Amino acid sequence: MTGAPAAQRQRVHREVVSYVRRSGRMRPNQRRAWERHHEDFVLEVPQRETSTSIDAAARLDLPGAFGRTAPLVVEIGPGTGESLVPMAQVRPEVDVLAFEVYAPAVAQLVGALARAGVDNVRIVAANAVEGLQHLVPAGRLDELWTFFPDPWPKARHHKRRLVDAEFVALATTRLRPGGRWRLATDWADYAEQMRAVLDAQPGLVSEHPGGWAPRWSDRPLTRFEERGLAAGRSVHDLTYRRVEGPGA
Ligand SMILES: C[S@@+](CC[C@H](N)C(=O)[O-])C[C@H]1O[C@@H](n2cnc3c(N)ncnc32)[C@H](O)[C@@H]1O
Repeated sequence: MTGAPAAQRQRVHREVVSYVRRSGRMRPNQRRAWERHHEDFVLEVPQRETSTSIDAAARLDLPGAFGRTAPLVVEIGPGTGESLVPMAQVRPEVDVLAFEVYAPAVAQLVGALARAGVDNVRIVAANAVEGLQHLVPAGRLDELWTFFPDPWPKARHHKRRLVDAEFVALATTRLRPGGRWRLATDWADYAEQMRAVLDAQPGLVSEHPGGWAPRWSDRPLTRFEERGLAAGRSVHDLTYRRVEGPGA
């Protein structure tokens, strides 16, 4: 419990977020992985009223967190890290900061990172929107990865989709000139929405104007992608680059 006034708490509960606030209950193996390894990978940040929020005054000491200064990649929503762990492992020269709201997935992720001996990943277990806003300095990102964000397929839920015009404007400011944003989804109308808002964003250019990017071969097949393909959906990749200019 916090001492926040009721009106303020209500305001937070009405916020539209891109995820379901689920129970953070961990299975015994997840609990064990969390207890053994979270201190090595999970960065504590001050919260607001909810456990997935981030206090607006929060800041990260990135060189302190990674023990060095290196090119920075942010992944939003790695889940249990099926693609993050192997991708970070083959890129020891970059630091990867992951935002994931679902605590049991974070527990599994830290277990997988420890088993794989990967030490260039740090995790903030909170909302990536607030994370980008408060914790990632403008122009700092070399890459931003958003693979299979929650699709929110029902029309009345589209407002929950992460990749909308407002978020794209924020994320663009976090990329350095020349930095890339790679996205993938197995929901065709979400892919169209992504392309529309990304194309409309000053300071971003598509690397495949008018079309889709080829599947990024570095991106391992995850259970979410497999599930989409098994259901007959096709996967769309998108890649945008930040250029100097207005809005960027
Ligand atoms: C459909 S899963 C995809 C997992 C992974 N990227 C993959 O391709 O296998 C989406 C993940 O994003 C997380 N997520 C959704 N919205 C988020 C947000 N705003 N900040 C951080 N994580 C988020 C969810 O908890 C979930 O683990």
